[in-house]
Amino acid sequence: MHYFYTKDKYLYCEGLKVADITVKYGTPLYLYSHRTISEHFTKIDDAFSAVPHLICYALKANSNLAIVKTLQKLGAGADIVSGGELYKALKAGIPAKKIVYAGVGKTEAEIEYALSKDILMFNIESVPEAEMISKVAGRLRETADIALRINPDVDAKTHHYITTGKKENKFGLNINLARKLFLKINGFKNLNVVGVHIHIGSQITTSGPYVKAIKKVIKLIGELRSDGIIIKSLNIGGGLGIVYKDENPSTPKKFAEKILPLIKPLGIRIIMEPGRFIVGNAGILVARVSYIKKGENKKFIILDAGMNDLIRPSLYDAYHKILPVTPVKGSSKADIVGPICESGDFFGKGRVVSNMKPGDYIAVMSAGAYGFSMASNYNARRRPVEVMVKGKKSFLVKKRESFEDLVRGEIMPEGL
Ligand code: LLP
Repeated sequence: MHYFYTKDKYLYCEGLKVADITVKYGTPLYLYSHRTISEHFTKIDDAFSAVPHLICYALKANSNLAIVKTLQKLGAGADIVSGGELYKALKAGIPAKKIVYAGVGKTEAEIEYALSKDILMFNIESVPEAEMISKVAGRLRETADIALRINPDVDAKTHHYITTGKKENKFGLNINLARKLFLKINGFKNLNVVGVHIHIGSQITTSGPYVKAIKKVIKLIGELRSDGIIIKSLNIGGGLGIVYKDENPSTPKKFAEKILPLIKPLGIRIIMEPGRFIVGNAGILVARVSYIKKGENKKFIILDAGMNDLIRPSLYDAYHKILPVTPVKGSSKADIVGPICESGDFFGKGRVVSNMKPGDYIAVMSAGAYGFSMASNYNARRRPVEVMVKGKKSFLVKKRESFEDLVRGEIMPEGL
């Protein structure tokens, strides 16, 4: 569900023609729908209304301040994985007491920054990390609230790059050792164990793997209770899948129906960390066709956007729908590629797409999550402009980078 649609062969975002917005801001362009973002957040929030809960938006999916602010206004918290994301979450107005901090490699400086801001909790992934947080908290004469991330060893049945809850992944603490480790870490002077965290992967389309993982940690929560460790919150991570092509993902409502009966009896607060579900289908990447190249037995549609702007097809072989923005007659098979000097620079291969001509605009759909946030300056390309549409209005939410931006901070030492 989203507010990008085709009417009279023109692509629209909410109340505006994408072509008009593109003429105004140029290409490559990331375009976001405010209404889609808001409704997706609300769907998850409502699905969990029967229990105390906090929806912490995973900033890694897209940390544009306008998006984070939109969610903050709806009551969202934030799931962060770096000092930079903490900075952006706070900047967008997310209260520190709604911020949870995950990641296997938090540095001492990042821990100190988060402690000084008094965030809700750290999701700890290893004993050495627990030692570090305890040490820093001690130095600051504080006690840090923490959850331990458990690796429940379940298969989320998603792309192997984005599955995180199996025992061979680097994430979390082994479920079989968890009870012992909880007791050990609970003994650390400057830590206060308050929660259990899991995140089993991303783009998960069924609730089965979650149910399996949650059942495992519920057993653990019971055991901990008998050890005198009272768990107040269960963070079930992110990972809800979306439609890129023809998937049929479980809705938040159906998902909640499956897991709430397990969780309700515990009487604890649920935390969730959705990223993709909220923004994935709320954004598109619009590019301009530079050339049509006829290869020996193939046609290439060459765009002014490349893998540096959206890396998902290159990195995960991910499928994104590709649509014309204005009416185009006829269709044929083509590879849709970027201008970068790599064969992996493509958006789609062997696709039957409209017969585009140079100068036409083309939209790569479902690009709101892990699109701009994974963009780079490879080939010294300036990262795209970002625009948000709300009803019939468009707002510039990040300027296109300039050539100056490309050399900011670089130094040519004298006497080189
Ligand atoms: N919480 C934790 C601890 C995570 O590691 C992640 C994502 C999330 C929440 C949010 O997951 P989501 O709801 O967005 O599935 N770049 C990949 C996705 C990597 C996901 C990393 N962790 C992609 O483009 O598919």
